[in-house]
Amino acid sequence: MTRRILLINGPNLNLLGRREPHIYGPATLADVEALARDQASSLGVELQTFQSNHEGAIVDRIQEAAGWGPRTRSDAAVDHHGAAPLTKPSAIVINPGALTHTSVAIRDALLAVDIPFVEVHVSNVHAREPFRKQSYLSDKAEAIVCGMGVYGYTAAIEFAARYLKTVEPE
Ligand code: DQA
Repeated sequence: MTRRILLINGPNLNLLGRREPHIYGPATLADVEALARDQASSLGVELQTFQSNHEGAIVDRIQEAAGWGPRTRSDAAVDHHGAAPLTKPSAIVINPGALTHTSVAIRDALLAVDIPFVEVHVSNVHAREPFRKQSYLSDKAEAIVCGMGVYGYTAAIEFAARYLKTVEPE
């Protein structure tokens, strides 16, 4: 059965490459997703991607990963590229952006769907402002990657695909 990984990026990560490049580097989100797609196909894994600046949209997408949520009609069951069907992923790789430090709702959604997840941060959140040290996800994450730049996504996908005991696809 095909394993699937859902890659979620939160607020302002659509600005990768333009936003504070001294912190986040020159790669765009399109670069990150293209690299992740190639990597996934070479690992024999299907990749779904989603980015939103809105907390509720991310909660909806996480619920949809379990076949729940408001957007589960078959005509709406496509990812934001309009391609792959919203079939249940075996693992989630998530960079929640600033919502990391504030969102009980994203934490609760991840716990509700019970899909193992890896938390990614492009920057080293522990070497920045004190409020970035707090994460509502880290204690529930299978693994946390931070400070590796966009390579962190590659590391997280590699880990999720090869080493994580993931949910069996249905
Ligand atoms: C981030 C770190 C967060 O503190 C910040 O709000 C982001 C990006 C990172 O990838 O380093 O938006 O998650």
